[in-house]
Amino acid sequence: MGRQVFEEPRRSMGLQMLVVQMREYARFFGIKQLPEKPAKFFLNIVKETLAYRRSNNVERKDFMHLLIDLKNNPNPELHSLTDDEIAAQAAFVFFVAGFETSSTLLSFCSYELAKHPEIQEKARNEVKNVLKRFNGELTYDAMLEMKYLDQVLKESLRKYPPLSMLTRGATEDYWVKDTKTPLLIPKGCTVVIPVYSIHNDPSIYPDPEIFDPERFTPEEENKRHPFAFLPFGEGPRVCIGLRFGMMQARIGMAKMLLNFKMSLAARMDEIQFSRSHFIISNEGGFWINLEKIH
Ligand code: HEM
Repeated sequence: MGRQVFEEPRRSMGLQMLVVQMREYARFFGIKQLPEKPAKFFLNIVKETLAYRRSNNVERKDFMHLLIDLKNNPNPELHSLTDDEIAAQAAFVFFVAGFETSSTLLSFCSYELAKHPEIQEKARNEVKNVLKRFNGELTYDAMLEMKYLDQVLKESLRKYPPLSMLTRGATEDYWVKDTKTPLLIPKGCTVVIPVYSIHNDPSIYPDPEIFDPERFTPEEENKRHPFAFLPFGEGPRVCIGLRFGMMQARIGMAKMLLNFKMSLAARMDEIQFSRSHFIISNEGGFWINLEKIH
C-alpha cells in the first residue's frame, strides 16, 4: 500500500500543484493528495487501532499514542485531532515523508556508485576500516565515523533532492528588500523554494552534473551559504526525520557496500526525471547489477 501511494501517478503535476498551492480550491473540487485505495487502507488501520486501544485501555509509548493524546487534549485553545487527521498524519509521516524519500536517496546513490567504481571502492574501504575498529559491529558511533560515506550520501541528496521544491505560506505581508526592485510577498501567498535548481546552480556548485562527494568535506561545506543545501528543508518546519533518515541511509548503504559490488546494468539508461511523480524519480526505474562479495 505504501508503494501504491507513489506508483499510481494518477494526475498531472499541474493538479498536484493545485493541491499544494490552492488548497481551498482543491478541497472544493474534491481533489485528494493520496490515491483513494491506499488512503482508505491507512485510514482503516488507524481507526481500528484507535478503537482497539480505547476499548482495551492499551497505552504504549509510541507515535500513535502521542496523536491520541493530542486528540484527547482538554485544553480548549488547542485544536484536537479527528480520527481522519490522525490517520493522515500516520500515513504521511511513515509513508509519504519517511519511506519514499529514504528509498529515493538510496536508489540514486546506488546508481551514482555503480557509475563511479572508484568512489564506490573508496566508500567501501572506509566502511571496512571503520568496522575493523568497532569489532565488525555497525554501532551508532561506528556509523558516525563513516565521514566519506556521509559525503557520498550528501552529494546524492544534492544532485537528486527527493523533494525538488519546498513551499512556505506567508502569514503576513513581507517586503523582500535586498533585491533590485523591492518585492512584496502578500499575506496568504505560497512561495516555492526551488531546491533542485539551487542544488544544480553552477554558481553555487561548479559543474553540477558531476557527482563529486568532495563538495561535502567540512572545508567545502563551510565555504557555502548554509541554505545552499536544502534536501531536508530548513527552519522551524525542517524535516523531523533528518537524523533518523540519514542514519538508516548510512546503515543501508554500508551494508550494500560490504556485501555487493554495484555496476550499471545494460538496460540502465541515462536518468530521465519522471514528470508525473511528486518525489524525484527516474522514468525507467533503476537497473543495477549486484555481485556478491565473499
Ligand atoms: C532521506 C530521507 C528524507 C528526506 C530527503 C526528507 C525530506 C524532507 C523535506 C524536504 C521536508 C520538508 C521540510 C521543509 O519544508 O522545510 C520534510 C518534512 C518532513 N519529514 Fe522528512 N525527509 C526524509 C526522511 C524522513 C523520515 C525518515 C521521517 C519520519 C520518520 C520524516 C518525516 C518528516 C515529517 C513529519 C515532515 C514534516 C515536518 C513539518 O512540516 O513540520 N522524513 N522531509
